[in-house]
Amino acid sequence: MAELQKSDNSWLKVLFIGDVVGLPGTSYTAGVLKDLLPKLQPDLVVANGENAVHGRGLNRPAAEALYDAGVEIITLGNHSWDQRDLLSFIDEDERIVRPANYPPGTPGRGFTVCRVKNMEVLIINLMGRTFLPALDCPFRAVDDILHEHSGIRHVIVDMHAEATSEKLAMGWYLDGKVSAVIGTHTHVQTADERILPDGTALLTDVGMTGPRDGILGMDRTLVTHRMITQMPVRFEVAGGARQFSAVLVKLDHESGRALHIERIYISED
Ligand SMILES: [Fe+2]
Ligand SMILES: [Fe+2]
Repeated sequence: MAELQKSDNSWLKVLFIGDVVGLPGTSYTAGVLKDLLPKLQPDLVVANGENAVHGRGLNRPAAEALYDAGVEIITLGNHSWDQRDLLSFIDEDERIVRPANYPPGTPGRGFTVCRVKNMEVLIINLMGRTFLPALDCPFRAVDDILHEHSGIRHVIVDMHAEATSEKLAMGWYLDGKVSAVIGTHTHVQTADERILPDGTALLTDVGMTGPRDGILGMDRTLVTHRMITQMPVRFEVAGGARQFSAVLVKLDHESGRALHIERIYISED
């Protein structure tokens, strides 16, 4: 018997955009989403915005630029506190999520719940601890959040980490407990997207949105100069051609299980 084609209503489509770097990143996000949103028609658009201001942190104008582009939820990472301006509005803006495993009392929130197609979607941000600040345990942090929200079946986790092993471990740890574990932070898109046996979509790193020919979005001359001379150099966002890195996950409307995962990479010229 032929399998019935699922109607669009049986999906929940989530577009997750990788680390947006500086003005080139926010402007290219806006440009790409103008074409992409009508084509993909995602139900929810999430972007990691930890590098949206000159590669370092998030402020109000950068957050507004991302919202204007069509981003609905902004996640963060190790650059969360690089812009003091964020502290003036992060507590009020429920669309912004910083890593949940910061110590208790840290400003902002480690997860947020939004309503999509009349369903609740939980978005969680976690940070790994390899080559990054020694935060609280991300595994215990996510356990606590999931325990508090056991009625929500659609859960997206941004696992912001350097080590692929830590991101894979989180993916397998959460298999069957969340809809998707999307890695961020390395700014290089990995080609390992898959759906784990118990229905969790996993991508080790979604990649970077911003200058394509810099080093992780920053001016490559400055980065290499620092590496060669070992002298302090202030990095600046690179110019030139831009890239857009994202992933689209389709979740079952009822169960929240991932049904499809697809990487997206778009580049100028
Ligand atoms: Fe980043
Ligand atoms: Fe990062």
